[in-house]
Amino acid sequence: MPETIRIEDIAQHEGEQVTLQGWVYNHTDTGKLVFVWVRDGTGFAQCVFFKGDVGPELFEAAQSLTYESSVKITGSVRQDDRAPGMPGGYELGADDLEILQIAEEYPIQPKEHGVDFLMENRHLWIRSQRQWAVLRVRATVIRAIRDWLDDNGFVNMDTPILTPAACEGTTTLFETEYFGDLAYLAQSGQLYNEADIYAFGRVYCFGPTFRAEKSKTRRHLTEFWMVEPEAAFCDMDQLMEIEEQFVSYIVQTCLEERAAELEILGRDTSRLEQVVPPFPRISYDEALEIIAEIREAMDDPELKELLKIEWGDDFGSPHETELTERFQKPVFVYGYPTEAKAFYMEPWPDRPEVSKSVDLLAPEGYGEITGGSERISDLDLLLQRLDEWGLPREAFEWYVDLRRYGSVPHSGFGLGLERTVTWICGIDHLRETIAFPRTLTRVYP
Ligand code: 4AD
Ligand code: MG
Repeated sequence: MPETIRIEDIAQHEGEQVTLQGWVYNHTDTGKLVFVWVRDGTGFAQCVFFKGDVGPELFEAAQSLTYESSVKITGSVRQDDRAPGMPGGYELGADDLEILQIAEEYPIQPKEHGVDFLMENRHLWIRSQRQWAVLRVRATVIRAIRDWLDDNGFVNMDTPILTPAACEGTTTLFETEYFGDLAYLAQSGQLYNEADIYAFGRVYCFGPTFRAEKSKTRRHLTEFWMVEPEAAFCDMDQLMEIEEQFVSYIVQTCLEERAAELEILGRDTSRLEQVVPPFPRISYDEALEIIAEIREAMDDPELKELLKIEWGDDFGSPHETELTERFQKPVFVYGYPTEAKAFYMEPWPDRPEVSKSVDLLAPEGYGEITGGSERISDLDLLLQRLDEWGLPREAFEWYVDLRRYGSVPHSGFGLGLERTVTWICGIDHLRETIAFPRTLTRVYP
């Protein structure tokens, strides 16, 4: 019996007789030859049935295959640079075929489909090669995230999903009935991380977060995954050092381990190769000046209007896009106006209208992938902020406690998984970076 192998490992089996098990991704029949692209979850490979070799009966069976039929194909592995399927080029000279099921007419055909149709059929769309490549990159990004944090002294602490209060502002909360009370789906695990650092020093949480964002943009999901590292005895500058090491590691790991997938996606990897520390750092004030310059030099009145911004406003996508086009690497923007950000941010010394906040913006127009800050460590200031932000004291009592017992300067950030994968893959839309995206207009399938 020939060994059943994974397509991913096919190069190690050149010249051997092996069996592939998977699904028919593509099918071409010339009368004398049938080319079957098989995908098995680990890769794509072409299998060639030659009538003269396999005999009429088997050849007819190969001819009868439809898209997505499930099969086991046995044959000998040969290297061929022209072989389609995966970069690198291996194919199978087929000599046997077992059909598990002949698939019904498959809704997704090798032609252009509208996005709505594809989203409606997301449970099938994920089988397509590009979607497969993106989701494989995602899995690698997740592993790289955990590896780096685990290797650098961050302890994984899972934070609750059902929470009594808002972390990132009350306007985007999903609320749910909780035994006669109300609870909210977590927007962030940060506040709990801040408790955890007093037990473990450096921690991270990594899980789904929920925001009832009314924005229908290519950068927003209502359910997205965020990794949030938090560190005691860490100021904003030290935080940026952690972030640039962390993000560089993630990108370099993808370049090493997901080269084939990035090639399938047509990613210009030379841009990713440049993602190594240090990253440029500019202040919010400097960023405003750059945006003003860009506007000045601009002819398009519509875009000019979009880029209008006054001191105090947070950036929108157009600002971030224009700004990051100017940089080769991810760029830190620090020192945002206090009012534009969340309640917990440490103010700038002698400049309370500015916060010790920092976002990391990905290049090539991708924009914000992380948001973080140094946190308020002073008890009185935190109490004052809760009042000013109109937040209920009772719900935050435990959080306030953290400033009572051994308060220290501490900082943390959140990295949006889907935004990071979108950038690394070089694709246009966030929704392709998660198997079943949740957006303003979609909870099916
Ligand atoms: O900037 P944000 O809102 O920061 C926080 O939630 C902090 N509590 C994190 C922390 O300091 N521990 O969100 C962090 C990141 C953003 O930079 C972005 O990448 C991603 O989460 N993000 C979203 N991704 C997809 N869809 C959305 N609606 C997102 N909102 C934020
Ligand atoms: Mg943010």
